Amino acid sequence: MAPRSEAPPLVLVIFGASGDLTSRKILPALATLADTGQLNEGFSVIGVARTPWSDEDFRNVAIRAAPQAGPRWRRVVERFRYVAGEYAATETFDALKALLDDTDRRFGTGGNRIYYLATVPDAFATIVEALAKEGCNVPGSQGAFARVVIEKPFGRDLASAQALDRTIHAAFDEDKVFRIDHYMGKETVQNVLALRFANAIFEPIWNRRYVEQVQITVAESIGVEHRGGFYETAGALRDIVQNHVMQVLSLTMMEPPTHMDAEHIRDEKVKLLKAIAIPSPDEAVDRSVRGQYTAGVVDGQPVVGYRQEEGVAPDSTTETYVALRLAVENWRWAGVPVYVRTGKRLPARVTEVVLQFHRVPFLAFEGLMSRELQPNTLVLRIQPNEGIELHFGAKVPGEAFRVQSVSMHFDYGEAFSGEQFADAYPRLLHDAMVGDTTLFIRTDEVEQAWRIVSPYLEAWAEPGGGLHPYPAGTWGPRIANLLLERSGNAWWDRVPGATER
Ligand code: BG6
Repeated sequence: MAPRSEAPPLVLVIFGASGDLTSRKILPALATLADTGQLNEGFSVIGVARTPWSDEDFRNVAIRAAPQAGPRWRRVVERFRYVAGEYAATETFDALKALLDDTDRRFGTGGNRIYYLATVPDAFATIVEALAKEGCNVPGSQGAFARVVIEKPFGRDLASAQALDRTIHAAFDEDKVFRIDHYMGKETVQNVLALRFANAIFEPIWNRRYVEQVQITVAESIGVEHRGGFYETAGALRDIVQNHVMQVLSLTMMEPPTHMDAEHIRDEKVKLLKAIAIPSPDEAVDRSVRGQYTAGVVDGQPVVGYRQEEGVAPDSTTETYVALRLAVENWRWAGVPVYVRTGKRLPARVTEVVLQFHRVPFLAFEGLMSRELQPNTLVLRIQPNEGIELHFGAKVPGEAFRVQSVSMHFDYGEAFSGEQFADAYPRLLHDAMVGDTTLFIRTDEVEQAWRIVSPYLEAWAEPGGGLHPYPAGTWGPRIANLLLERSGNAWWDRVPGATER
């Protein structure tokens, strides 16, 4: 992973420049990079979208998107330019090509280009084909680079992801393709690597001999907000599990890489993903629960059900919650259940990885059964209150020999209070600019993640696939508890704000 150096000169072409993602994430991230001196003097942006804006309109949006930004950002924004047009129209790319050449000449961008696809996914292939047709996939000068950054979702199943890859690879080699999963840009996700591979005490116990079960929770208290139309085509499995959960899971459970570089880390992630058992259709039904929120109360406020959200069909069967029981079939993890769950309109926003260790075989303390004492548990809190907790048994002061579960906390913010926490998007954008693919998703990772989730998608499409309602503000359908209870397990229940289990 590269140090936070100044990026080379380049022109960043943002497709979908008038969209929500550009103003919410990309422009503020660029402002951060500008303010922290990570953008080169020869950095410039061309926005492309259908909205009929002028250069000035785009610049105003860029300034408004980063109200806290300093004078450096204003200077960068002065160089922003905008092309209005359809993604399928030759004129759009003619205009872009002319502007690229002009930008290279005027701003000294060195012929380096990054194309950022922040559009609806349906437009990805069209844009890449048009770029290639116009010769824009070739750098503007010798020794320069042309890269493409692609937002999620990457395909909606294995076949569509493979088809998209064929189109992209016809224009860009794999090392020029930067598939974004913003979870990989989170400090605490990267910290999983530090915890595991910079410490001697964890690796020896990081396996089936010591770990009883692994749980990954990505809970959100928000609903689908204004993205009902998109969410209807996705659902929780595609929106979160295929990408964010698989990334967190693979970093948590992969083998140690021999080098901390893009290829070695991603090789290990793929190896782990390939070890996840692909269930038969019956097993997929048996090992999964899908739910959809109904009206309820979140943070003390009444909220509508999913089917009443804007852009959602009144009889929608899209899942807003999913829980799976997975199995990693390799030497290290054989027999250790891996429970994952994600949902919208749950009582809290929390992402965490929980490793629960085996109970002691026997407790010699008088009157105390080993089952009464909580097993040792390590919680890696990705967000919020980023940190790590270790739960263990300690003697209660007094004459009797009573043992109780207590915990030790490492608070990320407190421990590094003097440090700047890098947000995911500035980090990832900067990595794309310096050409570091470590935190981006390689083609074989995407494909394998689709292979893992496909059986559930297929099983749920069958009659009887089952969709369980849950009131907004609760921890999902109660039946999801059964996934674990069958094996004598339960969801880790110290999630802050947990009210109902
Ligand atoms: C996005 C999903 O990828 O991740 C959203 O499309 C979700 O539905 C978001 O809300 C969650 O990201 P974070 O960083 O808030 O956990």
